[in-house]
Amino acid sequence: MDLASKIRPIYDYPIDGIIFRDITTLLKDKAAFKEAIDKMAEAFYEEVDLIVGVEARGFIIGSAVAYAMGCGFVPVRKPGKLPSEKISSEYKLEYGTDSVEMHRDAIEKGQRVLIVDDLLATGGTAGAVVNLVEELGGEVVGLNFLIELVDLNAREKLKGYNVKSVIKFK
Ligand code: PRP
Ligand code: ADE
Repeated sequence: MDLASKIRPIYDYPIDGIIFRDITTLLKDKAAFKEAIDKMAEAFYEEVDLIVGVEARGFIIGSAVAYAMGCGFVPVRKPGKLPSEKISSEYKLEYGTDSVEMHRDAIEKGQRVLIVDDLLATGGTAGAVVNLVEELGGEVVGLNFLIELVDLNAREKLKGYNVKSVIKFK
């Protein structure tokens, strides 16, 4: 199936010049959703203990991949949402910074972690999540995305890590 054709482009959203890649059109198509998740679940042969998924779209994709791979799921959340003791990691936006948080007891030392999100753009979010996992002593087996915006060169930022994606856009 041509999965790229199931992603709806929204021009000039949320600001002028951006093509927003809307996954809701893929998610509501049962055959496309299944094929996308199956492809992501088959992409890594390595042993994986935990999938780490990023709020909010990363929860949809990440938890489905975790179920398909038979792994546990750890949520990474936007600031102020997690109830227990947490660690946080900042990353750069075009203007200013943002941060993501994870529970301090989410990962045990030496656990093998696959980071999953719907989309890789600049790699800022993914880099911050790598930092969270490694701060807790987790081993990043790889990073697995449904969509990669290849022209933004996120792979430069994630050098040394095994990065895979199912759908690539310029
Ligand atoms: C989107 C996407 C990734 C991130 C990618 O999330 O789901 O998490 O941006 O961008 P980057 O590679 O430049 O960091 P967003 O922050 O828009 O949150 P959402 O899932 O809640 O819509
Ligand atoms: N997150 C960052 N860039 C994006 C884009 N172009 N489409 C959808 N989500 C995004």
